[in-house]
Amino acid sequence: MRFSLSSAGLQDWNGDVLAVGLPQGDPSETAAELEKRFNGLVATLEKRQFKGKSSETFVSNLLGGAEPQRLLVIGLGEAASIDLDGLRTASSKAAKAAVGCTGRLGLLLPWLSINPMEACQICAESIRLSLYVDQRFQKDPEPRQIPESIELIGLPEQAATGLQGVNAICSGVELARELVAAPPNVATPTLLAETAADLAEPYGLELNVLERDDCEARGMGAFLCVSQGSDLPPKFIHLIYRPEGEVKRRLALVGKGLTFDSGGYNLKVGGAQIDMMKFDMGGSGTVFGAMRSIAELKPSGVEVHMVVASCENMINGSAVHPGDIVRAADGSTIEINNTDAEGRLTLADALLYACEQKPDAVVDLATLTGACVVALGDEIAGLWSNNDAMAEALKEAAVASGEGLWRMPLHKPYKDGLKSKLADMKNTGPRPGGSITAALFLQGFVDKDTAWAHIDIAGTVWSDKGKGLNPPGATGFGVRTLVNWVLSQA
Ligand code: BES
Ligand code: MN
Ligand code: ZN
Repeated sequence: MRFSLSSAGLQDWNGDVLAVGLPQGDPSETAAELEKRFNGLVATLEKRQFKGKSSETFVSNLLGGAEPQRLLVIGLGEAASIDLDGLRTASSKAAKAAVGCTGRLGLLLPWLSINPMEACQICAESIRLSLYVDQRFQKDPEPRQIPESIELIGLPEQAATGLQGVNAICSGVELARELVAAPPNVATPTLLAETAADLAEPYGLELNVLERDDCEARGMGAFLCVSQGSDLPPKFIHLIYRPEGEVKRRLALVGKGLTFDSGGYNLKVGGAQIDMMKFDMGGSGTVFGAMRSIAELKPSGVEVHMVVASCENMINGSAVHPGDIVRAADGSTIEINNTDAEGRLTLADALLYACEQKPDAVVDLATLTGACVVALGDEIAGLWSNNDAMAEALKEAAVASGEGLWRMPLHKPYKDGLKSKLADMKNTGPRPGGSITAALFLQGFVDKDTAWAHIDIAGTVWSDKGKGLNPPGATGFGVRTLVNWVLSQA
């Protein structure tokens, strides 16, 4: 998708679809300008009782062959209340209402006091992300007609810098969506390893893939026990972005990579969404997506390590038993009182490995607990961190990208719930506060003086109905937050 600024105004912009935002109850200049160009439009809007509320969109296909072919008027709500999210929603609506038209889409919004560069980036990202559809698994996909060139009208020239990273970021979000939406017979640990190789080659990233034997040699018993009931080989994937010049910060992005989670012998039954558990590699989808964007944006000063311990949680005669005691790479022993709390086992060894890279900060993303979905729903991810500055930086990055993130407590006393009589710990505590004990479990495998954050994306990885920029299905949640965060560290 091509993005540019147009130096034209409402009177002289010519293209295929013109989208204009109109604030509520405002006999604004925009309305007068619209009337000047499209004679009778104001009367028509009145007849339709279009008030400019944020729920309203007016679409008119203009006949006669003259440009534009389609006019969209998008209600923006009260002028005073239009913020970044308002821009996102309006852009997303413009994009969706433009489906069916090819060529050029012009978008004119009251840009107000919002930083024009930021406005540019937000609108362009929202348009591309809203138009994404996944037709990979259809025999004869219906050809889609969407605008290929997007022009933002009425912004100062210097705002164009905001467009520079848009395609790199959106490609990362789309990679995450594609990986997460791919079914578990396609998105296997091997496919993830191949995807890493496909990123490493063109972007000159370094890649190490540890096979089962390598993981065994490193004593990764927590990770390997999860994979032992699966016919598919596990893959431990380490992808590295090294900047040109001096490295000022070293970061690690760790993603849960369960390509399918049956629950194991604690099988997912009765509404436990076993049929959705292809999305249990959502954390790795996000870190893969972020690495793709970072590789393309090439920030200086930051080295970024992506670590994904990928496998399936399945059942056969070799599968881990409830009650087994396994040993993680640091030697600590874990009594598996629930085979369905497998993500934290894989992450234990992934976090230990990540910390060996001596990073300044580590963030892990995981579809870790149903408890987090209960606590925060499907629009807000949970954030746990041992470092206030890091938590703040991540929250800021999330706000800038319009992704919901809420800090949760690492409440030490709850660690008692993980006490085992035989081993150093159990993998599961009591149901109440389940997302907190999961985070505390992970914290045990992170160097005390390394800044670390854990983001539980169990609720946000998927949206059945779709909303805003997210078409129904995999959301690609977290990619933009991670990329913004990495760039802020550069
Ligand atoms: N992958 C699931 C978490 C999950 C559940 C994500 C529902 C999205 C929707 C994870 O491996 C899991 O099964 N967690 C258990 C932990 C429990 C056994 C302590 C859970 O949340 O029920
Ligand atoms: Mn599970
Ligand atoms: Zn899981």
